[in-house]
Amino acid sequence: MTDDALASVRRLNTKTSCSGVILITGASGRVARRTAELLARDGHGLRLMTRSPERAPLLAAGETVRGDFAEPATLKDAFAGVGTALVVSASGEPGDRARLHRNAFQAAAQAGVGHIVYLSLQGAAADSKYPFSRDHYLSEEYLLATGVPCTVLRNAFYLDMFLERFDAAGVIRGPAGQGRGAFVSREDVARTAAAALRQRPGGIYDVTGPEALSVGDIASRLSALLGRQLRYEDESADAARKRLSPLEPLAWRVDLSVGWFQAIAAGELQRTSDTVLRFTGTAPLTLEGYFRAFPELLRALHRTP
Ligand SMILES: NC(=O)c1ccc[n+]([C@@H]2O[C@H](COP(=O)([O-])OP(=O)(O)OC[C@H]3O[C@@H](n4cnc5c(N)ncnc54)[C@H](OP(=O)(O)O)[C@@H]3O)[C@@H](O)[C@H]2O)c1
Repeated sequence: MTDDALASVRRLNTKTSCSGVILITGASGRVARRTAELLARDGHGLRLMTRSPERAPLLAAGETVRGDFAEPATLKDAFAGVGTALVVSASGEPGDRARLHRNAFQAAAQAGVGHIVYLSLQGAAADSKYPFSRDHYLSEEYLLATGVPCTVLRNAFYLDMFLERFDAAGVIRGPAGQGRGAFVSREDVARTAAAALRQRPGGIYDVTGPEALSVGDIASRLSALLGRQLRYEDESADAARKRLSPLEPLAWRVDLSVGWFQAIAAGELQRTSDTVLRFTGTAPLTLEGYFRAFPELLRALHRTP
């Protein structure tokens, strides 16, 4: 993203008003649901968009609409009359996924939405090692092309993402080497998104945890919390591909798994930012602070082999 593009986003944002209902897409998802809860507490008028209305959170302050980025016809009604929209990134193959996001941004532009908050990824770049980071970069380009005032929240990898990567023996493997990342909690991601929706700051921000940790650090700090030995085993990208390919028939999913570690190794996520503190007034949670506050997240790791 060029400085000129960023400057034009900031300029556009100074012209917006703060009226209208707040739309949250992907409302049955974890970050969207938590963001909606935080805004509902403040009494904001909400519209919750989901592909599965029966799974959306029930909030007194909100209405629910069915909407799917893959079905542009559903987006027209979803974005109608909306002042600010949180566009939560969708699931799907890199490239296809950016086109889904483009459908949402274009629907927002056509409906005259005043401000879009988009959940992107720290390290979003055309040449990232991680396919989803390349996809987020393309999505950001689509967003900027609409000219709608926007705030792009480039979230670090979630701390939560490590939990599912340990095997039953307590080992996490991948080509991250000694690379570090400023991993963030889902809770801080949701709190920052809620603040961005309220404040309409405009611009592009990294949303990170308070410190840059290696995968080995994560394993040892989780071990101390759990009272169970977890460890990290570095492996080459080739070895990771050989191990994962027989388990995963879709080659792009193997690329995602390997690229996730390679992005950490390359330092794409190592920079900490003050965005969480600046937007929410509270410092981001440490690994220990997060998992002590939400101990149920660690349930799967409590079992021993
Ligand atoms: N930074 C990271 O480490 C990291 C990790 C995981 C995910 N992410 C990204 O951050 C987003 C939020 O994270 P999360 O943990 O809240 O994910 P999540 O619980 O998996 O929720 C994602 C939501 O995206 C919505 N979605 C999927 N396909 C869609 C489509 N075609 N059209 C509209 N909505 C669609 C779904 O909502 P409905 O079913 O309600 O429509 C789903 O519940 C994810 O979607 C993902 O892109 C980032």
